[in-house]
Amino acid sequence: MVGMGTNKRLIAILRAALVLSAALVLSAVLLTASVSAAQDKPLRLEPVKDAHSYGNPQQVRVKHVFLELTVDFAKKQLLGAATLNIERAQDAASAPLIVDTEKLKITRIEAAKAKGEFHQVEYALGKADPILGAPLTIQVPEEASRVRISYATSPEASALQWLSPAQTAGKKHPYLFTQSEAIHGRSWIPLQDSPSVRVTYNATIHTPKDLVALMSAEGNPQMRGAKSSSPNNGRGEYHFRMTTPVPSYLIALAVGDLAFRAIGGRAGVYDEPSVVDRDAKELEDLEQMISATEKLYGPYRWGRYDVLVLPPSFPYGGMENPRLTFASPTIIAGDKSLVSVISHELAHSWSGNLVTNATWSDFWLNEGFTTYIERRIVEAVYGKKMAEMQAVLGRQVLTRDVSALQPKDQVLHVDLNGRDPDDGSTELPYEKGMLFLRQLELAAGRERFDQFLRGYFEHFAFQSITSKDFENYLDAHLLKQEPEIAKKVDVHAWIYEPGVPKDVIEPQSEAFARVQEAASAWMNGKMSVAQLAAKQWSAQEWLHFLKALPQDVGQLRMTQLDKQFHFTQSGNIEITEVWLLLAIPNGYRAVDEKLEQVLMTVGRRKIIKPLYEALAKTPEGKKRAQAIYERARPGYHPVLQKEVDMMLRSSTAVQH
Ligand code: BES
Ligand code: ZN
Repeated sequence: MVGMGTNKRLIAILRAALVLSAALVLSAVLLTASVSAAQDKPLRLEPVKDAHSYGNPQQVRVKHVFLELTVDFAKKQLLGAATLNIERAQDAASAPLIVDTEKLKITRIEAAKAKGEFHQVEYALGKADPILGAPLTIQVPEEASRVRISYATSPEASALQWLSPAQTAGKKHPYLFTQSEAIHGRSWIPLQDSPSVRVTYNATIHTPKDLVALMSAEGNPQMRGAKSSSPNNGRGEYHFRMTTPVPSYLIALAVGDLAFRAIGGRAGVYDEPSVVDRDAKELEDLEQMISATEKLYGPYRWGRYDVLVLPPSFPYGGMENPRLTFASPTIIAGDKSLVSVISHELAHSWSGNLVTNATWSDFWLNEGFTTYIERRIVEAVYGKKMAEMQAVLGRQVLTRDVSALQPKDQVLHVDLNGRDPDDGSTELPYEKGMLFLRQLELAAGRERFDQFLRGYFEHFAFQSITSKDFENYLDAHLLKQEPEIAKKVDVHAWIYEPGVPKDVIEPQSEAFARVQEAASAWMNGKMSVAQLAAKQWSAQEWLHFLKALPQDVGQLRMTQLDKQFHFTQSGNIEITEVWLLLAIPNGYRAVDEKLEQVLMTVGRRKIIKPLYEALAKTPEGKKRAQAIYERARPGYHPVLQKEVDMMLRSSTAVQH
């Protein structure tokens, strides 16, 4: 400032002060903005490390997928290309793109700028791990933002089940469906197959002309019957798009002879033409379920909600593919007694699809929340008595699972390193997670807790979060304001310690208490079968009754019950299951035909595994199980084959 006049100096000082304070104000504004943005929307720019994916989203991240696939039933193969739009982190200009694959046959990989032409690039397929598959490392030029991978799937792809016409209701056409959760998506799409990575997608699917393709996306045709209205002019070309980012495990495809029935304005059901009306009747409360859930947890954010009822080999009761829940036909009991499975899958539209577990160790965030919400929907639509009975049935399952699992697997946040997330999966994350949230609800009061959950879904919408993220949010938005809740619920123990905390408030059902009394009275000869018949129980009450009987109830009593109530012929798969599990150790052979029929047609893991386990307890039973299994195996889904192989073929080499 040498040589500057006093005035000039003053002005300079003032100007500097002005600039400085403006800068301070600005930075303060920016800081508050970023802090409040972080509080409102903690955008997870860096996906967490996921032990079940080789992907490198921290460096190069897949944002959008365009699938172009042809469905070849003769070869049991999907053939075509996946074009991935990618985004690079600033410090990863030269990093390759790494995606997950499982048994994919890669034929060519090209890269292109946003608008430019595709040019072939170098790539390397790593060594395949039996659980994780093989990493595919692609040398993408720095300036390229699109990568096109041409490939074909293997006939053994773990996400795909190819059904023969005999396995369908119509017996005329083949059928294909995918099941990507937990880590099978990589067996049909080369992707960063981690729930921490979300992508939008669009797809063009080519099918045989007389079949229909459906996806977990917009674009599903609404036809009365596949042939009567020939969707897409019978060209067998279908277009789909999902404009909301979803984790890869929610990408789903089904191809078959399918028809549609509307159930209200934004809901409907798909199934084969001969059975779709039966489904529409059973699921007539769908709209009511959706509005009940919206009232509790905020708007349904996916547009339509349709259900695809699959052939009986579908390995789950239901799968929450967005916009299009996949469901087992075994949930169609004829009396709506199993529709809570649909409440469950619908609930995932909030817990799971909107707010997603970032890794499979956080699976309870998906399933525990969903089981809690499922019961709230059941309560809203079917009443408190029904919800309480289901909570008690769930509590029994939790007790069973806790006693069967090692302490380290009795925690909600579970260590899955080196393991397939599908292996030994139990209902612990479902029922312990649900019980934990119920404790919080009881401590906070229902209104306050509902408000908290609405805030949670809004805050983390369309993001993938860890158990820690949940804990932090719980601290900041509930426990801090209401410190007495933290005194009543030991959050750390619920998430990280084995078993169920001792101070749990147990679910109760008065109806079940009465069932229990009747079961004892009947066992003690103080009540007749005719008196039992007069009770007019629901399926849940009968289920509880059967579970309350002693394991050695005996053939005589089973015969009496069967004569009066026809349990062997029950249309409710859960009752069938408990009845068969009672029949096997009691040597009640009147069920033999039914048992074989269930094992030969149903492919639901939760139903089938325990039946084989029960049979395998005696040497003759095991022989019988093996004989049935050899015939049933070709009809099972790969995930079920793997499990039963381990149980019944453990001494012999696994064959394919
Ligand atoms: N998302 C699950 C199914 C799943 C879990 C598939 C893990 C693959 C890996 C689905 O929502 C579910 O929980 N289904 C249950 C039914 C539900 C009512 C408990 C099932 O299939 O048993
Ligand atoms: Zn679920």
